[in-house]
Amino acid sequence: MKLTLKIWRQPKRSAAGKMATYTLDGVSADSSFLEMLDLLNEQLLHDGEEPVAFDHDCREGICGMCGLVINGIAHGPERATTTCQLHMRHFHDNDTIVIEPWRAHAFPVLKDLIVDRTAFDRIVQAGGYISVSTGSAPDGNAVPVAKSAAERSMDAAACIGCGACVAACPNASAMLFTAAKLAHLNSLPQGQPERYDRSVLMVNQMDAEGFGGCTNIGECSAVCPKEIGLEFIASMNRDLIAAGFRGAGKRTAGSE
Ligand code: SF4
Ligand code: FES
Repeated sequence: MKLTLKIWRQPKRSAAGKMATYTLDGVSADSSFLEMLDLLNEQLLHDGEEPVAFDHDCREGICGMCGLVINGIAHGPERATTTCQLHMRHFHDNDTIVIEPWRAHAFPVLKDLIVDRTAFDRIVQAGGYISVSTGSAPDGNAVPVAKSAAERSMDAAACIGCGACVAACPNASAMLFTAAKLAHLNSLPQGQPERYDRSVLMVNQMDAEGFGGCTNIGECSAVCPKEIGLEFIASMNRDLIAAGFRGAGKRTAGSE
């Protein structure tokens, strides 16, 4: 395939960016989207130009590092598919593909297609853990977990923290991510003692990072490569209301 690529180029966070146009020939339909960008970078290096910076790690859809807005859609045109798992067979010869980074105030561009997603790390640090006494490994059957709770927790834990939900939301809301991280702990018996503190602390951190609020548009769930459902946001809101009645969230992260 021969492609025209329009790609956001920005040398550093403080610099202005702009779209640049490249022509790339010889792209295999069997290659992944990131392999196509690898091919472009080989061409740029051969021509003495700066390669395009983009994030990736596992290339297996599990780490959450990759993430590009492809033709206006976070992670591209295939549902439930990360950028790294998107293949070029979904494009056509002579296509023009527009490639941009996540765009959100809380995810500043570091270089080209790479954004700073450490705001997500700080949300998790605020309460995304369970405090336990360390020591010998506990008996695996010491705390029975209902099958429904285990499955709900695992569904939420499928979130890979990629940030597509934020990129797709017109409010740049991180509520789907935060709700998933809360639900995977709040669904389990081990997560109950800190449930309401956790909910308040993580949502407070989400707000402090500058993410917007949810207005039930649903773009977040539509682009989510792990198909995290909006019902987790509803659960988070219920827990926040319950936390208000309990006066929860007074402790600070790490004070346990
Ligand atoms: S909720 Fe989905 S889109 Fe958002 S960070 Fe998690 S996996 Fe990515
Ligand atoms: S590179 Fe790991 S999920 Fe895409």
